Amino acid sequence: MTKKIVTLAGDGIGPEIMAAGLAVLAAVAPKINFAYTIEAKAFGGAAIDAAGHPLPDDTLAATQSADAILLAAIGGPQYNDAAVRPEQGLLALRKSLGLFANIRPVQIFEALKHLSPLKAEIIEGVDFVVVRELTGGIYFGEHTLNERTARDVNDYSYEEIERIIRIAFDIARGRGKKVTSVDKQNVLATSKLWRIVADEVAKEYPDVTLEHALVDSLAMKMITNPSDFDVIVTENLFGDILSDESSVLPGTLGVMPSASHAENGPSLYEPIHGSAPDIAGLGIANPISMILSVAMMLRDSFGETTGAAYIEHAVHQTLLAGVLTKDLGGQASLSDMTEAIIKHL
Ligand code: NAD
Ligand code: IPM
Ligand code: MN
Repeated sequence: MTKKIVTLAGDGIGPEIMAAGLAVLAAVAPKINFAYTIEAKAFGGAAIDAAGHPLPDDTLAATQSADAILLAAIGGPQYNDAAVRPEQGLLALRKSLGLFANIRPVQIFEALKHLSPLKAEIIEGVDFVVVRELTGGIYFGEHTLNERTARDVNDYSYEEIERIIRIAFDIARGRGKKVTSVDKQNVLATSKLWRIVADEVAKEYPDVTLEHALVDSLAMKMITNPSDFDVIVTENLFGDILSDESSVLPGTLGVMPSASHAENGPSLYEPIHGSAPDIAGLGIANPISMILSVAMMLRDSFGETTGAAYIEHAVHQTLLAGVLTKDLGGQASLSDMTEAIIKHL
């Protein structure tokens, strides 16, 4: 059956890396007999410019009837003081589709080991997943901005915590059997509840070890002892910050994909980074984050494990061959790298 993939290229480097991801998908599809259609929709700043709204109704409707969604990146400095921002569209999309479970894998490519700012012995064996709660917490609480005061509300219900913790345990069961639950339980009420729920869910998984960590010290340990972790689960804001921090391990945001899942309905795949306005339009962005997001889509949404493995292998081979974009210390352009990955498929 032909699968419908809705693409949201967005802003900045978004359209460039989306084109790269789709070129790789087009190259791998015939090898695995994967039939699909692409429906490209306006989103983010591009949609504000065209239609006055970052998430137009027909874009939302298309995503709701998709089999999977690919998103590149949104945002840009021109919207910093605008009444409507591209980021609002992203949050509205996540909420509308119920995409509560954001999976952000962190691994070190053999070929990139020497590029990490950290010592080789520290990043040896790093392979963990950040599971970020994506539709609750302070992102979605009430926001009030007055002239002299401001307020952001952080809300979590038992059920919202329970379902994301369960996702973390399920993932851990299929890999290193260890969950690190991250909170600020020494201060925040939401974190106190978080820890209670994590302990409760852990009882259902006697084969998986649960450890708790406070977010401040975890931020430090992620850099000093990154190979200690298997699955890290945390609330929306902490997960946003910690996952960008984790990109220091491979040395660049440009290789970091993600998947976001709902209880029902289509999943969404996107790099963890933003629109990189500083390099937009120069043709030098690293497309690997988008290309690996395509691989995650093939595996998670369509069960196409072989296609996903082909892409991941081709990325490894390309890096080993020394085809490196600027963020990796090389000279290769986005299209050089994309072509090399397609050649290695
Ligand atoms: P950013 O992630 O866009 O960029 C941070 C740094 O990483 C920049 O130096 C950038 O050049 C570099 N970088 C990011 N992706 C890269 C790639 N693929 N190849 C090479 N280098 C790459 O963060 P920012 O500059 O703080 O934010 C820019 C805009 O993006 C903001 O409007 C922000 O809100 C938005 N944003 C969007 C998303 C998203 O669409 N999901 C995520 C994060 C930030
Ligand atoms: C991300 C981004 C978004 C977030 C922004 C653009 C709203 O930083 O996907 O990590 O904070 O979730
Ligand atoms: Mn972020």
